[in-house]
Amino acid sequence: MTMLARGRESTPRSGTRKDFLSILDFEPEDLERCLERSAEVKADRALGAEAPTARLLSGRHVAMLFEKSSLRTRSTFEIAVRELGGHVVELKPETALGDREPVADVARNLERWVEAVVIRTFSQRVLEQFAAAAKRLHVVNALTDEEHPCQAVSDCLTLREHWGSLRGRTIAYVGDGNNVAVSLAHAAAMLGVHVHMASPEGYQLRHIAVEEATNVARHGARLRLFTDPADAVAGADAVYTDTWTSMGREAEAGMRREVFARYQVNEELMAIAKPDALFMHCLPAHRGEEVTAGVIESRSSIVFDQAENRLHCQKALLTMLISPTRA
Ligand code: CP
Ligand code: NVA
Repeated sequence: MTMLARGRESTPRSGTRKDFLSILDFEPEDLERCLERSAEVKADRALGAEAPTARLLSGRHVAMLFEKSSLRTRSTFEIAVRELGGHVVELKPETALGDREPVADVARNLERWVEAVVIRTFSQRVLEQFAAAAKRLHVVNALTDEEHPCQAVSDCLTLREHWGSLRGRTIAYVGDGNNVAVSLAHAAAMLGVHVHMASPEGYQLRHIAVEEATNVARHGARLRLFTDPADAVAGADAVYTDTWTSMGREAEAGMRREVFARYQVNEELMAIAKPDALFMHCLPAHRGEEVTAGVIESRSSIVFDQAENRLHCQKALLTMLISPTRA
């Protein structure tokens, strides 16, 4: 079954999404609505306990299951749940994803206790198994080897704040065609943003992801793949990069440093983009590798806006999944 078909299966109709495993679990309208909601909860945060969503998860629990390291995703989900009035339950990966019991049993236990589980793991398949086994459990992708949809939602909100409207803009993504690149391609296509991706041969966006982005593209959005970073960045409105070595690929780090050497986002490359082009990175960043210190610390860099918005977008996302009618 293709990922696209799986996404459609777990999402019966607009407005009542059970899971968020992929940007493809959203129709473009859902993504637009999520951005609107995110902006609202961001503005409401100043109201603290008086915010309209402050008791939305009152007396309810959300489980967190992280099999890989995380600063931003883990912190922002925990804060989001607390600020929605709920409680977080931390699960140990060796207990919930080990040989102790099947994933389907873990999921069917969890749905008796918690509203949702936020999972960071290696294979997207594990998330699909959770989602399929427990009809009442909302499953949220906090990053897999294949996709990082929460990051893409936050990236789109951040760009919307800087640009007003996204349609017709161009993002150049330079580097590995990894999880962040896939979700960015999905979200940008849905919102009418052109994406230029420059990656070395063998590290380009997977064919299926190109096909998926093409299928969901609206407002004439185009996804174009390049090997030369300069070709991708020329005239772009934003330049995005991510680590050359994603979590789980550490053994390849030395080899990847050589393969990606000419894919660094530096001052020279930024000079080819539009004069007011923004620099983006999901973080953590490696200065001197995928980006220079000068670029990430420059005025064009919006990396901490992206990080801040993870909180607001994930809060909005949880409200949409768990309490769609009240969100
Ligand atoms: N960008 C991001 O997902 O950061 P963490 O790995 O720290 O969660
Ligand atoms: N592509 C990176 C993103 C980290 C947030 C990784 O998977 O490690």
